[in-house]
Amino acid sequence: MLELQDLRDFSITNWYGTFKDITVKTIIVDLPEQLLKTIQKEDIQDSDEDNEIVDDEELPVEFLQDFKNALNVFDNNAFVKNNWHAPVDARMFSFGNYLKVINLDDVITYFTSSSRIQEDFSIVTNIPFCIALRKWISIHPAAEFRCIVINNVLRGITPRDWPTFYAHFKEEGPQIIDELTNFFNDNIKLRFLRKHFVFDVIFQYPDKPYIIDFEPLNSKTNLYAFSWKEIQPLINKDSPDDVAPVFRYLETDIGIITKTDALNMLTRCN
Ligand SMILES: Nc1ncnc2c1ncn2[C@@H]1O[C@H](COP(=O)(O)OP(=O)(O)O)[C@@H](O)[C@H]1O
Ligand SMILES: [Mg+2]
Repeated sequence: MLELQDLRDFSITNWYGTFKDITVKTIIVDLPEQLLKTIQKEDIQDSDEDNEIVDDEELPVEFLQDFKNALNVFDNNAFVKNNWHAPVDARMFSFGNYLKVINLDDVITYFTSSSRIQEDFSIVTNIPFCIALRKWISIHPAAEFRCIVINNVLRGITPRDWPTFYAHFKEEGPQIIDELTNFFNDNIKLRFLRKHFVFDVIFQYPDKPYIIDFEPLNSKTNLYAFSWKEIQPLINKDSPDDVAPVFRYLETDIGIITKTDALNMLTRCN
């Protein structure tokens, strides 16, 4: 669960305006109270598939219109998040596991079946909850990177698809480091509200990178190829501004391994 200050700073409602030119096009609609209640109490197993999950007449007309207009912008085919998370743990409830949204019922189904979304909505804050509709993009798993920023310096880059071996990382490693460092320095450094954080990017060399999301940097955030144990001590240490980030990836194809196996292996190599 996120801390209150984290909830504020990492809500897409807070960062989207600043970074809209370098992230996925998004339209944010406030989640009305009535719909929040439906999402919180709906038991998906009980809902009759032939019927609409929610009776539109119960919802504010303005919300329904805003939602419809937003979905139209994306040709009725969007990706959805709340302020902080995507309902990725509800993938199996979507056609082809794509988590595509073609109507309001899809949002309700995904949000209701996702425990991370349910958890977010159970926190009482004065931050208004939202539905963030984003352009749906087909993402190659090898193109997803998580970047670790400490004291406003990019220190670590890890594939999000970890531990998986991708042969091209070795060859493209220097370009991946250069491009992501420039991208960070030119577009993100000192523009985000915090000095320690992670940001997720899509980057397929030689295309330009773009932001997917921001997350707090703490023990609960998955750092994939890095461990919290090695990152935490760097947080309170002065570091030179020009230090290059470490791009850590699996260098050999060793079949299916766990994250712990991979970390042990890397420790032995270092
Ligand atoms: N616009 C999008 N279209 C299609 N898939 C997406 C989109 N945005 C994110 N994804 C996929 O969903 C995953 C989770 O997205 P993300 O925004 O980071 O949510 P979370 O913060 O809950 O992890 C990403 O790793 C990516 O594979
Ligand atoms: Mg995220």
